[in-house]
Amino acid sequence: MRYLITAALPYANGPLHIGHLAGAYLPADIWARFLRLKGHETLFICGSDEHGVAITLRAWQENTSPQAIIDQYHPLLEKSLREVGISLDFYGRTSDPLHHQVAQHFFSTLLTKGWLEKKAVEQFWDPKAQTFLPDRYIIGTCPHCGFEEAYGDQCEKCGTLLSPTELRDPRSRLTGVTPEKRLSEQYYLRLDALQPQVEAFFRTRSWKPNVYPVIQSWLSAGLTPRAITRDLDWGIPVPDLPGKVLYVWFEAPLGYISLTRKWAESQGQPTAWERFWKDPDTRIVHFIGKDNIVFHTLVFPAILLAAGEGYTLPHDVPANEFLNLEGNKLSTSRRWTIDIHEYIAAAPDRIDELRFVLTALMPQTQDRDFTWEEYTSRINNELIATLTNLIHRILSLLWRYGNTHLVKVPDFLLQWRAETAREMAHALFSYDFSKALNTLLGLAQKANKSLTEAAPWHLQADEAQKIVAGYGDLLAAFGTLLEPFLPVHVAPTLRRYLDIQLFTWDRIEDPTPLVRELRLAAPPQPLVKKLSSEELSSLREKLLPTASPPPSTPPPSTPLTIEDFQKVLLKVVTIRAAEKVPKADKLLKLTVEADDGLHTVVSGVAQHYSPESLIGQQAIWVANLPPRTLRGIPSEGMLLFAEGENGTLVRVGPEKTVPPGSIVK
Ligand code: MF3
Ligand code: ZN
Repeated sequence: MRYLITAALPYANGPLHIGHLAGAYLPADIWARFLRLKGHETLFICGSDEHGVAITLRAWQENTSPQAIIDQYHPLLEKSLREVGISLDFYGRTSDPLHHQVAQHFFSTLLTKGWLEKKAVEQFWDPKAQTFLPDRYIIGTCPHCGFEEAYGDQCEKCGTLLSPTELRDPRSRLTGVTPEKRLSEQYYLRLDALQPQVEAFFRTRSWKPNVYPVIQSWLSAGLTPRAITRDLDWGIPVPDLPGKVLYVWFEAPLGYISLTRKWAESQGQPTAWERFWKDPDTRIVHFIGKDNIVFHTLVFPAILLAAGEGYTLPHDVPANEFLNLEGNKLSTSRRWTIDIHEYIAAAPDRIDELRFVLTALMPQTQDRDFTWEEYTSRINNELIATLTNLIHRILSLLWRYGNTHLVKVPDFLLQWRAETAREMAHALFSYDFSKALNTLLGLAQKANKSLTEAAPWHLQADEAQKIVAGYGDLLAAFGTLLEPFLPVHVAPTLRRYLDIQLFTWDRIEDPTPLVRELRLAAPPQPLVKKLSSEELSSLREKLLPTASPPPSTPPPSTPLTIEDFQKVLLKVVTIRAAEKVPKADKLLKLTVEADDGLHTVVSGVAQHYSPESLIGQQAIWVANLPPRTLRGIPSEGMLLFAEGENGTLVRVGPEKTVPPGSIVK
């Protein structure tokens, strides 16, 4: 089988952090290294994503050009990836002229084939900057919570999804002036018309359990036309339409094609890319984080299908969930991250350790949490105590006994490692990287125990030598089995001690001795140094110096600050209407009056109050919660009830009637 492996193209507007690594680059790398050992033709490509709003905005804010931003980050991204051992065959960038050409070609083809339609939409225009503003470029006051710095697409304070026209007092983030509404024409991709083809594709693939429901829910909601052009001057120009560029999510995935072509050119074989994109025997696998699922499983395949030029559709999109840091979401703007280039600078000799920990903690089907405590314990108690100590014990024995012939390796050891290699392969083909690593640790554990029981150090030299030979074979196998996970230092150093090369994975799956004899070239040193608490605190100090975690719900024992309390907007409301929610015996649908009109609140009190008994009463309303839909009814905010005796709920209201909307403080 031939494989094309891609990892999400990182935006060239900031550094990579451990979340990116655990989400996409590390699993892609482990997989690529494994497939190569399995003997499959494998091409692993990536590159910088150099267009999009985030880059222009950053350039504007820093009073520089988008070009300067991408020229700063593109080399940093590649360097970080290479230094953590991501074995890319090619790293390119989407500002490349060939990429522009490929993207424009796709646009023109889709236009000719009738998959695009032109529609005029009302958009905000910045009269000072003389440009249309994307949603994110507009800030204003959130209509729900009153936060004055809400973005045009979402209020970061209360989480409500917004459209820019809903903001009160909208302002341009570029110039600060009040934007005007203007009509602008954009091209829309007819995802609705492509849905049958996309759905047929979806059904021919098997998806990871965290990916399947995301696609399913989009398809069952029905795909709708999506704008694929923007009024910006940074990006890939739309052919024959001055002032417009292709939407970044239209062109960036096409980078997978253009970058494969760049790779082919770099090999001096300009047509070599075709066997990766036009041959049905190639499997294309995209490694990404969960925020990219829709673009890779629906939009990109739809573009390929619409082009109708015989491009191979993705074989799989093994998306990961998110990695948190010490219980809080990673955030570059709040400096709550561990950036890869900073980790490398602070712990240049501990790259494999980071890979080990992130593989153990990989957010494969659910979000996971990185903590320094776990970082330490995984290194000291698993990587070292289980794995590298065993390696060191065996290496020391081999050194002691000199030249070791591996003629008679006990069968049970051969079987153990062959089975382990097979089980690991199975886990890796199902993208269960943590399990593959655990399987490997399981082998080390068994071997540790049996070596201790055999206790060759108590035996006569020739007896001892025979026993040690068996474990020598195991070490030779580790030289290959560790390679996908710990390729920077541990696996190559082990092979150097043993003076052996990599084996094929299939060879490790075959239970016969790997080599005839082993002779150590030098006395062994421990492969991984124990992590002391001093080293840990200095590392933590360097990597998260002044940062404090972003605000979130405090644990119950933490005292609440007055600022935290003031984030809750409480108002008195008058209940104007109440009715039972059909087929929901706990819910009432209430209409409440506040200072700004009527709101619907679904409340779980139907077993405590009849609808009639609530009408005309006043209650306390939490006004700035994001709206949610309960039983199909959009519900805003929440009414407060006290917990009474025997689980009853008791309405909380003002002591005497006050005007609806009065603030509670
Ligand atoms: N730059 C995007 C992100 O970081 C990922 C782009 S992946 C590609 O979320 F498909 F567009 F290439
Ligand atoms: Zn808000």
